[in-house]
Amino acid sequence: KTIPKYVNELERPPVFKPVIATDPSNDKVLSHNYTVFETQLKQQLLPDCFPKTLVYGYEGIIEDGSCFSSTPGPTFEAVRGIPVNVQWVNNLTEPHFLPVDPTLHWANPNNMPTPEPPFLDFPPGYPLAQSPVPVTTHLHGGEVRSDSDGGPESWFTAGEQQVGPDFLKSRYTYPNQQEPTTLWYHSHALGITRLNVVAGLAGFYLLRDPHNPIEPLLPSGPYEVPIVIQDRSFNEDGSLLFPNVGVNPQVHPYWVNDFIGDTIMVNGKVWPNFNVKRRQYRFRFLNGSNSRFYNLKLSNGQSFIQIGSDGGFLPFPVTLTEVLIAPAERVDILIDFSKECAGTKIIVTNDAIAPFPGGDPPDPDTTGQIMQFTVLDTPSVPPMPLPPILNEIPTLIPDVPKKILTLNVVLNNGNGPLELLLDGQKWASPISELPIVGSTVEWEVPNLTRATHPVHIHLIQFQIVNRQLFDSDKYLEDWLSINGEPPLQHPTIPLPVEPYLIGDPIEPDLNEQGWKDTIRMNPSEITRIRLRFTPQDVPSGDSKPGVNLFPFDPTFGPGYVWHCHIIDHEDNEMMRPMKVVSCPI
Ligand code: C2O
Ligand code: CU
Repeated sequence: KTIPKYVNELERPPVFKPVIATDPSNDKVLSHNYTVFETQLKQQLLPDCFPKTLVYGYEGIIEDGSCFSSTPGPTFEAVRGIPVNVQWVNNLTEPHFLPVDPTLHWANPNNMPTPEPPFLDFPPGYPLAQSPVPVTTHLHGGEVRSDSDGGPESWFTAGEQQVGPDFLKSRYTYPNQQEPTTLWYHSHALGITRLNVVAGLAGFYLLRDPHNPIEPLLPSGPYEVPIVIQDRSFNEDGSLLFPNVGVNPQVHPYWVNDFIGDTIMVNGKVWPNFNVKRRQYRFRFLNGSNSRFYNLKLSNGQSFIQIGSDGGFLPFPVTLTEVLIAPAERVDILIDFSKECAGTKIIVTNDAIAPFPGGDPPDPDTTGQIMQFTVLDTPSVPPMPLPPILNEIPTLIPDVPKKILTLNVVLNNGNGPLELLLDGQKWASPISELPIVGSTVEWEVPNLTRATHPVHIHLIQFQIVNRQLFDSDKYLEDWLSINGEPPLQHPTIPLPVEPYLIGDPIEPDLNEQGWKDTIRMNPSEITRIRLRFTPQDVPSGDSKPGVNLFPFDPTFGPGYVWHCHIIDHEDNEMMRPMKVVSCPI
């Protein structure tokens, strides 16, 4: 049965209501406190003529005082300078409804031995893998201490009966010292992130700064809408369809390297319509998909203005007619409907082929469409002019030697991919990223694979310097000749890139010239990024290696990670630990 488009109305996730802690002596707000549960529920994702879908969602008290659960989870509205504390509670007591692959390196709460082929079928799968369900929550893009970072090994099951090796606590603190921007929270337990996120465990975290001069100029209230785009597939009975035969089932019975859905869901509704007034709107787009990229355009060819990226406002507004977003990237966009006639329908289209160049383009009738705007018959309100400068972004100058880190080959046994690696290392190999607090380092990352990988780094917002074409086949051959075949149980020997470079460096796109926490690394290209291990708002030149300017100790706790945000890759070894240190080791 085909799913009709634009019969669902867009929904805005409700907003969590905090318990506000104040200092009794002066009424100053000390913190916003929440209790949030991971829970299983049924939600109407498909149009009403279809059944509801079993999902995971987040549950808590929302603004009207009621207790509410949904996917995407309710939104956190955070204020810069006011810390947020969240008590995370895992209420997932049923076995996982998606196939957990116990052959991956994963949370494995029951310590089950890794199964050997021939594998059992799913269902029933491996009962020891399906239950209990481990979760941990990461605030993506947040500057937080590592015991609140929700890293992959800090998972816990319902009742905290079982906890991961990095578990220290389940009440997290988000300092909210960084620039105002669109953050998001999502589940992050080792080897099971893709299933928990596809099941529904993701939501928005909007950080606002009451002193920011740009915010008052922007559409707000009903005219500011967070939009998370997620591709999904459904069974006839309305349940979520996730592959239960692996791409290389002799090795990984269920794991597929790129989950691609055939249906587009926006804010938990399949192909919604949104009725807009004849005025400007602010949309905070998030690609919350496992691996699908989106190249968004408006069907009437209209341009729009991007004002923000992952980590805050761009230095200046950028006018675009299309925008590419990889998994986990955010784009803060203004669209003006003031010149449209009442009744006009505008479709947000998608023509991204990534992550694999040469892959299948989206079907113009299905995944080539995201959502629809219908212009209402209201008076036309012209947009407010924007200032030419939106944000002062410090220039990051490296003060320690640069690092070369490769995105490796797909390991393959002839039947299909086994896993993808960062720098030839598996997740469990000894830690090799040990940045010094306060330092600025340049990472030069040759991509030796055939796909674009959106690479995400925890703790900090970073900057892209440029990209450059290189001879990746020759580089890979020479890299393997000095390092041997991955995975390697020691830090790899870096191979300088200079002899392999082709042409001149390519400047980042205008809408990448702000703070980023997730960056597309394209095949046959070297991507250069600068990472500064300080808070984001430190001026250029004010940081020094060894000097901690964070309002917390980033060397404390289990540490951080960096990984590919195609979460099917992340779940199968394309992730590495990172530990901030106070002096060089
Ligand atoms: Cu959005 Cu490490 O994750
Ligand atoms: Cu990847």
